[in-house]
Amino acid sequence: MKSHGMIPFLDLVTPHLELEEELVAVFRDCIRNAHFIGGNMLEEFERDFAKFCDAKHAIGVANGTDAVRFALMAGGVQSGDLVITVPNTFIATTEAISQAGGQPVFVDIDEKTYNLDPIKLQQFLENDCRREAGKTVHTKSKRPVTAIVPVHLYGQMAAMDRILDLAAQYGLMVVEDSCQAHGAKYYSAKDKQWHTAGSMGIAAGFSFYPGKNLGACGEAGAVTTNDDNVAKKIRMLRDHGQVRKYYHDIEGYNGRLDTLQAGILHLKLKHLEGWNEKRRSLAKEYSRLLEGTEGVILPHEPSWSKAVYHLYVVRVAEREKLQAELAGSGIGTAIHYPIPLHQQKAYQRLGYRTGDFPVAERVALEIVSLPMFPQLTLSQQAHVVDEVRRLVTEEAAPELVRNESTLVGRR
Ligand SMILES: Cc1ncc(COP(=O)(O)O)c(C=O)c1O
Repeated sequence: MKSHGMIPFLDLVTPHLELEEELVAVFRDCIRNAHFIGGNMLEEFERDFAKFCDAKHAIGVANGTDAVRFALMAGGVQSGDLVITVPNTFIATTEAISQAGGQPVFVDIDEKTYNLDPIKLQQFLENDCRREAGKTVHTKSKRPVTAIVPVHLYGQMAAMDRILDLAAQYGLMVVEDSCQAHGAKYYSAKDKQWHTAGSMGIAAGFSFYPGKNLGACGEAGAVTTNDDNVAKKIRMLRDHGQVRKYYHDIEGYNGRLDTLQAGILHLKLKHLEGWNEKRRSLAKEYSRLLEGTEGVILPHEPSWSKAVYHLYVVRVAEREKLQAELAGSGIGTAIHYPIPLHQQKAYQRLGYRTGDFPVAERVALEIVSLPMFPQLTLSQQAHVVDEVRRLVTEEAAPELVRNESTLVGRR
């Protein structure tokens, strides 16, 4: 039998070894010129990342959480506002909402895409909110609802046409959480054009955490926007509220992007399209090889979406068992995310109960993220698939009968 060694869930060593000389040259440039904060390296990255996202501005910030927070603040979220998002995201989305002064309010997800369900969004706005003096007010809490944060989860954009229409109808701003979706595309039926993540809302937050499709060698993030005023406000927020040194119009934050990280990201940005293509072709191959495996639900990519597969996530009945057995075969996996946010201790204060978001709750018990990174080889991938098929078919089959209401086969 061919040995495949360990197949990690994510390989962060190989891509850096491939670029080692160039990465070291960036560092050398920074230390030789004392380029640590601001400067050309930062501006060049911001210019090219904005271009990559088809946005007018990109503003480098310290991390993705700050990016979403600053985007919400610059967009105008006020203390006490309700901000709509999904329960199946990384907690940074809702931390950013709270840190901007808002309070998260959840709407359930679509069972196929795992993104915000526009039908449930409409139901929430129609049934739980009312229009009052030109504003949308949550009937029960009497708080204003001012924003929606669709999360482009796993690298696939949310159903933006419907979300943007509802936002316009109810006077809400849309801030995209694009932290997992660098380069993802959405085909709008309205203007019959493809749009890039980060170019559709009033602003969007990106994370460059090392494992992201575009990752720094440390913490980093950016906000993109087409709005000049929002861009100006974010530049102030990230830099202690100043437009000119020591002239502070507002209180801001220490939320800048390091010059060194900007230089590293600029270098890596040249490879991003190729890496995303590699992820897309690996995803296609995963789906081709796993197609027809009883009890495994594959990712669904609607015709209006070009996902960039930050993660390749399948659903199975016996998720923990499969994970443990794959680990025994030297294959790394992960769960994104095991506990929906409304069931987390941190959000007990919001008063949600189990059962409030049945799709997110069900999906959270069944998802498992398979190895996905551009350097994954086809033979490694084939081995992962062989193991998944073998384990699911041999060992999880009886469970599928019990769970047939939720695991309705493949798609
Ligand atoms: C969906 C989502 N939102 C926000 C963030 C926050 O980004 P960061 O970790 O850079 O603060 C992340 C990153 O992990 C994320 O995946």
